Amino acid sequence: MTNIAVLVSGGGTNLQALIDAEKSGIIKNGKITLVISNNADAYALTRAKDNGIATAVITRKACGGQSAMEEKIIETLEENDIDLIVLAGFMSILSENFTGKYDHRIINIHPSLIPSFCGAGFYGLKVHEAALNKGVKVTGATVHFVNEIPDGGEIIMQKAVSVADDDTPETLQRKVMEQAEWIILPLAVEKVSKSISERKDVK
Ligand code: GAR
Repeated sequence: MTNIAVLVSGGGTNLQALIDAEKSGIIKNGKITLVISNNADAYALTRAKDNGIATAVITRKACGGQSAMEEKIIETLEENDIDLIVLAGFMSILSENFTGKYDHRIINIHPSLIPSFCGAGFYGLKVHEAALNKGVKVTGATVHFVNEIPDGGEIIMQKAVSVADDDTPETLQRKVMEQAEWIILPLAVEKVSKSISERKDVK
């Protein structure tokens, strides 16, 4: 079994999709054992607690900076024996010091078809605003491994979503979540959990 930590900053609808997928058996080789938030007010923390999942709040401010925050996250992941880290709406770019420790062990969901509308500065609604400004007729979501390049790691899964003429950033965000993110994130988590579990078994 792969022990999963989900890192969040906000509403946590992707965390909810993962919790639901574990309950329904879509995720069967992984178990969400920890949720870490860099925002004490994130509703995602309530979702975790409602489902009996341990939580930790680790903020840049309380730690005194980004690198101290990352060190605290690493310490917490190690204490909890975590095998796989899922960034689900985690709004902080992790340094090379962090990503280098977890090669092919961190995955992220991004709300566009990478390599479009990605990299530093493209997060949340900004991604959908950029897609609408460009006038693309198809967008979507991407799950990828995380390395030292923001949104630059190996792609695991993608799903396309059609853009309507009257879409706003808000309607497009919702569509991309419903039609792509909440579907491919659980599938990708199961795929990677399975491969990590198999490697753990032969150790
Ligand atoms: C999601 O749309 C996710 O893809 C996006 O933030 C939202 C979080 O929603 N992530 C990024 O933009 C990362 N660059 P959630 O908290 O409801 O899952």
